[in-house]
Amino acid sequence: MSEAIIFENVSYTYNDGEENAVKALRDVSLSVHEGEFLALVGRNGSGKSTLAKMMNGLILPDKGKVVSFGYDTQNKDTIFEVRKRVGLVFQNPDNQMVASIVEEDIAFGPENLGVKREEIIERVDFALKSVGMEEYRKSTPFKMSGGQKQRIAIAGVLAMLPKALVLDESTAMLDPKGRKEVLDVVKKLNKEEGITVVLITHYMEEALDSDRIAVMDNGKILKEGTPKDIFCDYELIDKAGLKLPTLLNIARRLKEEGVKFNREIFSEEELIEELCQLL
Ligand SMILES: Nc1ncnc2c1ncn2[C@@H]1O[C@H](COP(=O)(O)OP(=O)(O)OP(=O)(O)O)[C@@H](O)[C@H]1O
Ligand SMILES: [Mg+2]
Repeated sequence: MSEAIIFENVSYTYNDGEENAVKALRDVSLSVHEGEFLALVGRNGSGKSTLAKMMNGLILPDKGKVVSFGYDTQNKDTIFEVRKRVGLVFQNPDNQMVASIVEEDIAFGPENLGVKREEIIERVDFALKSVGMEEYRKSTPFKMSGGQKQRIAIAGVLAMLPKALVLDESTAMLDPKGRKEVLDVVKKLNKEEGITVVLITHYMEEALDSDRIAVMDNGKILKEGTPKDIFCDYELIDKAGLKLPTLLNIARRLKEEGVKFNREIFSEEELIEELCQLL
């Protein structure tokens, strides 16, 4: 398995040396595997956004190092290579728009890279198609729904042909429909284009079918594992202040009420089958 992004003993303090210093990351080591869908979860202030911004060198470690697609993010000569490969999508799509026409907005990144006109057109086509927004090419993003805007923001990042997408609570401001639209697009990009995805979210449902989940708390990775490893570890869930996906929470509550299941419940079908047997 090759690694997309490697954190080696990374520490980071905001306002280091000052009275208001905050230790945001404490000796974090983590590998994001190439092609995987990694969910990064943890309570407010646990360090997720700091970790995300380090993935493309927006923040540099105080201690340790971050290597993205073979490039040390602290090397100024290659920071552009890192930025091309790792695209960040943030929470508020309005802050990520730069132009008033969709295609111009999406072309902005590659234009800055000096990509040729014809290739820019191809990239804009590809990006719009990937997020299912082809028919909005000439529209203005400002009137769109949150989900649509966020898909345009993702298209803008895709036009850079990144190898990894890091989404920092990119669904947080959306309604359930918009959230699903964005998540579906991201899942498709991961499956069909092989783009490595790091999804930061407070919605545990969104982490359910990731390949792997990393749980952060107080600037550290508490545990990483499959969704099953994580969501069946109730002690960890409580310690990290997470809320189980509804279905798994129901199973947990039933167990705590003394219901004996014959197996670990992880899907709706499993819960229904087990409940039917009990009845
Ligand atoms: N620009 C900043 N200046 C000072 N402290 C900061 C800054 N950004 C974050 N912090 C602090 O660093 C710690 C980690 O913050 P970070 O934003 O990485 O957490 P997070 O897990 O993304 O939280 P949330 O779920 O609320 O987005 C927190 O204590 C936070 O208050
Ligand atoms: Mg954050």
